[in-house]
Amino acid sequence: METQVCSSKVVIIGTGAVGATTAYTLLLRERVSELVLIDANKERALGEALDMNHGLPFTGGMKIWAGDYSDCAGADIIVIAAGASQQPGETRLDLLKRNASIFDSIIHNIVQYNTHGIILVATNPVDILSYVSLKKSGFPSNRVIGSGTLLDSARFRYLIGEAKEINPRSIHAHIIGEHGDSELPLWSLANVAGIDVEFTAEERERIFESTKNAAYEIINAKGATSYAIALALDRIIVSILKNEASVLNVSTLLNDYNGVSDVYLGVPCIVDSTGVREVLDLELNDKELEKFQASANKLKEAIAELDL
Ligand code: 2OP
Repeated sequence: METQVCSSKVVIIGTGAVGATTAYTLLLRERVSELVLIDANKERALGEALDMNHGLPFTGGMKIWAGDYSDCAGADIIVIAAGASQQPGETRLDLLKRNASIFDSIIHNIVQYNTHGIILVATNPVDILSYVSLKKSGFPSNRVIGSGTLLDSARFRYLIGEAKEINPRSIHAHIIGEHGDSELPLWSLANVAGIDVEFTAEERERIFESTKNAAYEIINAKGATSYAIALALDRIIVSILKNEASVLNVSTLLNDYNGVSDVYLGVPCIVDSTGVREVLDLELNDKELEKFQASANKLKEAIAELDL
């Protein structure tokens, strides 16, 4: 398998907390050869690019600049992190109307210059905006990916690891469904070295509730989430650029999957240079199936209200 990154170009649209931190993560980890920052507020993108350029003497060589949509030409990945973010007390779904309207022009502008790259959506509500991006771009679904429940799964693994005093990298556990309030934990699959992780019902409840409510807690405390989502986006970007074929819980278009079709949800996917190469079949128990389908129905109802 080819795992070498030669030259790579990533565009980040939206340089708020998530976009700028993702750019900085790519800089620190020397992931790409060209990094373009685009923002409706050009001054802001210029400032971020300048600040990061001044870090180049301390890192490897890459080119970072504040650009415009014409710079999407030749990009391998276009990350969308633009739009309003949750305020304390808001759900991700509350952002839908506001953010769906700006996606019209964002996707329109991207496809003027790029029809072969991969669109990676991080803006919330991420599952629905990934679906909107698919419909508006005309790209095949493997090349329109949402960050999905990769972050939620990381939070879940962290909390399980903390409770068991085991490094979260050694915890295998998945959150699937909406990146939001209707997501669900797959306790039946959670394991360390293939061994089930044992918890009481109360402990499970506490860990899952903390996972699901993590963003509310962080937003109340510091106004936005940024570091862990940036690392999650970096993880997806690397899996694409290095053709890793890693299994990541990203948001993808589901078709006849556990009774769910025509909606984006977070599920384990094989991610390589083609984007989502394959969605892994999960055998859900009756309770999980019911919750997964409820999550899909909730998002489908919201999509039905949009003019697509
Ligand atoms: C997060 O979960 C707010 O969706 C963002 O951190």
